[in-house]
Amino acid sequence: MKYNYLGRTGIEVSELCFGTMSFGGDSDATESAKMYKACRDSGINFFDCANGYSGGRAEEILGGLIKIERDDIILTSKCFTSMSKDRNSGGGNRRNIIKSVEDSLKRLGTDRIDIQFMHHWDDNTPLEETLRALETLVQSGKVLYLGASNYAAWQIAKALGISERQGWARFDVLQPMYSLVKRQAEIEILSLAQSEEIGVITYSPVGGGLLSGKYGPNKRPNSGRIVSNSKYAQRYHDDWLFDTAEAFTALAATKGVHPVSLAVSWVAAHPDVTSPIIGARSVEQLAPSLASVNIDMTPDLRAEISALSPTPAHATDRSELLFE
Ligand SMILES: NC(=O)c1ccc[n+]([C@@H]2O[C@H](COP(=O)([O-])OP(=O)(O)OC[C@H]3O[C@@H](n4cnc5c(N)ncnc54)[C@H](OP(=O)(O)O)[C@@H]3O)[C@@H](O)[C@H]2O)c1
Repeated sequence: MKYNYLGRTGIEVSELCFGTMSFGGDSDATESAKMYKACRDSGINFFDCANGYSGGRAEEILGGLIKIERDDIILTSKCFTSMSKDRNSGGGNRRNIIKSVEDSLKRLGTDRIDIQFMHHWDDNTPLEETLRALETLVQSGKVLYLGASNYAAWQIAKALGISERQGWARFDVLQPMYSLVKRQAEIEILSLAQSEEIGVITYSPVGGGLLSGKYGPNKRPNSGRIVSNSKYAQRYHDDWLFDTAEAFTALAATKGVHPVSLAVSWVAAHPDVTSPIIGARSVEQLAPSLASVNIDMTPDLRAEISALSPTPAHATDRSELLFE
């Protein structure tokens, strides 16, 4: 396992981050503990979580596992998700952010979160209010670094401008979706991250399971997130996704590697990605994600894989070169 500096922060994180969204949901506490151990044995020091994962259970399970080695772990959490029937629970307002982080700290059994993400953009709260609440948490030491997930590039850029003007802590880490079948981040978010030296940990590298080898135009597993979770079924719905999944699986077979290893390695090889966040429901599923670090993802191999899915359009319609 290699380690990379996370953006311009001085902290080093493993080249893979393990996502705990399955803890307490698809994976019970025993299986979660086995996956945690497999990650630690392979050198991972970086774990992603969120207040909303399994209704708070993921934070409780992860908190129990890191207890004996808290100082060796880089820990993230997120807020935004509503956790109660209170109509003001949820969103990017000051009231919700402060309460969410205090509740996360209790569930995680720690006195600080290394990276606190805003899980989503909030249309109903002024950005200054969100950023000021986050600054309060940094000042109090409850949170060390800030991150933004699922923000558009203009929203991140706007936030960076406000933070700099006010002298507040900025978003030092981004968490966009990114895989061979979800490449929107390539156009603006990753370029922004490179320009501003922001760390990037991308989620769903296997397309929620789409690129694991079990999906194709006429191929579906009996169970699995994309067939049983309506949100994911909608996200991975278009026919071309399944054509790409089939072609990708065939390519992985010709290279003699597990498609999950190849999918994660393709994401990790983007120069602006710090660490892909890998996910699994069992140690068996996790093994090929961990093995991704052994793949030699040459520029030619990456280009061959990239050709299997459409390259997203440029950010402007005037894309021809002005000077030659
Ligand atoms: N910020 C956000 O909004 C956000 C959103 C999503 C995720 N995340 C983070 O990113 C992490 C990873 O995301 P993800 O779980 O979507 O990643 P992913 O790697 O794209 O999908 C993981 C899923 O793919 C399937 N899979 C993985 N390995 C497999 C194997 N060897 N064989 C067969 N199927 C396999 C499993 O689902 P099935 O068994 O159900 O098929 C597994 O749960 C999460 O834990 C979370 O920390 C963040």
